[in-house]
Amino acid sequence: MDHFLYRDGALFAEDVPLSEIAASVGTPFYVYSTATLERHYRLFDEALVGMDHLVCYAMKAASNQAILKTLAALGAGMDVVSGGEYARARAAGVPGDRIVFSGVGKTREEIAQALSGGIRQFNVESEPEMAVLSQVATQMGVTAPITIRVNPDVDARTHAKIATGKSENKFGIPIARAREVYAKAAALPGIEIIGIDVHIGSQLTDLEPFELAYKKVAELTEQLRADGHTIRRLDLGGGLGIPYARSNEAPPLPSDYGALIKRTVGHLGCEIEIEPGRLIAGNAGLLVSQVIYVKQGEGRQFLILDGAMNDLIRPAMYDAWHDIVPVVEPEPGRELVPYDIVGPVCESGDTFARGRMMPKLQAGDLVAFRSAGAYGAVMASEYNTRPLVPEVLVKGDHFAVIRARPTFDEMISRDTIPEWL
Ligand code: LLP
Repeated sequence: MDHFLYRDGALFAEDVPLSEIAASVGTPFYVYSTATLERHYRLFDEALVGMDHLVCYAMKAASNQAILKTLAALGAGMDVVSGGEYARARAAGVPGDRIVFSGVGKTREEIAQALSGGIRQFNVESEPEMAVLSQVATQMGVTAPITIRVNPDVDARTHAKIATGKSENKFGIPIARAREVYAKAAALPGIEIIGIDVHIGSQLTDLEPFELAYKKVAELTEQLRADGHTIRRLDLGGGLGIPYARSNEAPPLPSDYGALIKRTVGHLGCEIEIEPGRLIAGNAGLLVSQVIYVKQGEGRQFLILDGAMNDLIRPAMYDAWHDIVPVVEPEPGRELVPYDIVGPVCESGDTFARGRMMPKLQAGDLVAFRSAGAYGAVMASEYNTRPLVPEVLVKGDHFAVIRARPTFDEMISRDTIPEWL
């Protein structure tokens, strides 16, 4: 459920008509709903009630300071994957002891940054990383709390580019080698083992892969405890999927996922962390765009929008489906026509949808891409020297620009000219 609904024939974000935001900030723009962000965070928090837990929002999904502050105010922790994300989380007021650091390529600088700023734990992904972590921590006279990310060799049954839990993926250490690697970790001076981490992929629409992975983690917990390690925290990753095509998708709910966690690892008495990104931010955001032209092609009609692949890359990159709806509600029974919906970027890949059935539209009409709140604005680029689109946050009947559209001068002035030119 989200808070983007038609009212009196117009699409609203909470209590604000999208047309009003468009008139004020111009198109395209991203808009997020505070009530939806909060609701989704709470669904996870409530799903884990009865277990000691922390929901660490995977901020790679949408990392605007205003979004982070909204979630942090509810008690959210953050899952970060770079020094930049760590700095963003701290700038939004998230204390270090609520930040977990994931990712396969943490540098010495990033490790030192997190150790000096404060960190809940590092999710270690390899033996060389573990060695560096121990070295940097020892040099700084501190101990780094860690989990080790295990790769359970489970098929997440999601798009190949976002599956991470198979042995051919670059993530984690093979679960079969876990005992050996934990023994090595225990012998390193700068490290304190806290627990185990697992994350098998993103946009999972079925609970079974989670169940397989979490059962393996439960078994490993018992083995590692028998080996003499303290395993008091399990980070179970993110990955729960959202309905992108609302007419025919109904992925499991956070409550089902919470029940699964209790069933598979609840008996171990560990503190539970989860790292959801998409489910918190995805349906809390839209990309709103305007039709520039309707172009008649050979046997097809193109809807040419002012938004493009550089603004929302998911369709080009993952063949992803986003529901695209007109901002003025079509009357019931209105005839639908097939459109190829494209952007102005000079690539054929700049196609959002082919043969998409839509009510007839014309130049100047506004459309909204649903489920664009996660992996939307954060993956945008300035390709074709198109400015990053602004982000807007709505709360009730208020809205605020939370990142402004840069001017061309601002964009150009980031380049510097060598003295010989
Ligand atoms: N934890 C780790 C270690 C991750 O790698 C990810 C996502 C998450 C948590 C959050 O997963 P979520 O709950 O959002 O599914 N750009 C792609 C998605 C990439 C996901 C990368 N890792 C897309 O647009 O579909």
